[in-house]
Amino acid sequence: MEVLKKGYLERYQEPLKVAYFSPGRVNLIGEHIDYNGGHVFPCAISLGLYGTIRPLEDDKIVLISLNVKDKPYETTIGGISPTAVGKWYDYVLGVIVILEKHGFKFPHGFEMMIHGDLPNGSGLSSSAALEMLTMKMCVDLFDFKLDKVTEAVYCQEAENKYVGVNCGIMDQFAVSLGRENHAIYLDTETLKYYYAPLEIGRNQLIIINCGKRRSLTNSGYNKRRSECEKALAILKKKYPIKDLCDLSMDQLRNAQDLFEDYTLYRRARHCVSENERTKEAYQALILHDLVEFGKLMFKSHNSLRKDYQVSCFELNTLVDFARKHHAKGARMTGAGFGGCVVVLIKNSRVAAFIEDVQANYTNLTGCTPSIYQVNISEGTRKVEVPE
Ligand code: GLA
Repeated sequence: MEVLKKGYLERYQEPLKVAYFSPGRVNLIGEHIDYNGGHVFPCAISLGLYGTIRPLEDDKIVLISLNVKDKPYETTIGGISPTAVGKWYDYVLGVIVILEKHGFKFPHGFEMMIHGDLPNGSGLSSSAALEMLTMKMCVDLFDFKLDKVTEAVYCQEAENKYVGVNCGIMDQFAVSLGRENHAIYLDTETLKYYYAPLEIGRNQLIIINCGKRRSLTNSGYNKRRSECEKALAILKKKYPIKDLCDLSMDQLRNAQDLFEDYTLYRRARHCVSENERTKEAYQALILHDLVEFGKLMFKSHNSLRKDYQVSCFELNTLVDFARKHHAKGARMTGAGFGGCVVVLIKNSRVAAFIEDVQANYTNLTGCTPSIYQVNISEGTRKVEVPE
């Protein structure tokens, strides 16, 4: 917020009065199943993006990120590139294009300034945070009538259709509907959701970025998605299902013979088992059974590592550190191929764990870890600007 305040004052010669905050998210469990009709269990976090918007009289759109050194990006309402160009502002333009597609009119242009403390490409959903920030600021400035679920759905559409990543709904949903100290148990098929109080007693949730540059994310992600589609087509020969996560593990086992390609079977096995684990984890959290919850986190990681193959040496190493320090649970979170792990660990064990990671992780991996102790936050919203 301080950087935004300063940037605003410099550019407009007046103090910032109205600002917005859009959080990142961490997924506790339920990975890579939001595009397979499964259940996910994310929460919004206190790291995120701050932004502000001002109307312009003409049809110009001016986009300023204080995180990059580039000069402001300029275009016009009618002149937005029809395809993404691989820049940070793709996410902003994508939202505008999708809003227009749904009939929302922009009678004039605007200028937007943002700054964030959410590391890009870390698996904490910097893209969904930016999409939802744009959405919320446009909704307020132009007085569009939209509810939070539809806002999230439109932002997902922006990412799918404009940016070109076939992501599911989880990130935009968590960022839009996050609630302080609660995780969101979401059925991605029906979009029914419940808030579960995140009561973790004398434990902490720690997020560690493994520091590996993610390269494969988009292509690897889209590839997994198409593998799931292939597995689904095979399973549909036996079962009248819509999504992979409609199956139980028993049903899947009974269909194993249909698979000539064992890789596709393993992809399906991750999805079906992860959905079952997520349902169990939700129950465990409600019953305050954090030991069980943690075990499910470890199992989820194993499945992502072995069956879904989206983990990497660096993430696995961090999970091993967590195990060594008797964490209740740990797993990679987000799309994988790099990014973050989330660890549930007793307060009294945190210091030694972090010390060990800081002292030894880099020697093992050649990467520098970043450790975040976050709070669980509300979704995208207008915030007070402190004096
Ligand atoms: C990314 C996508 C989400 C979800 C996760 C994996 O964050 O944006 O939709 O698929 O990966 O669970």
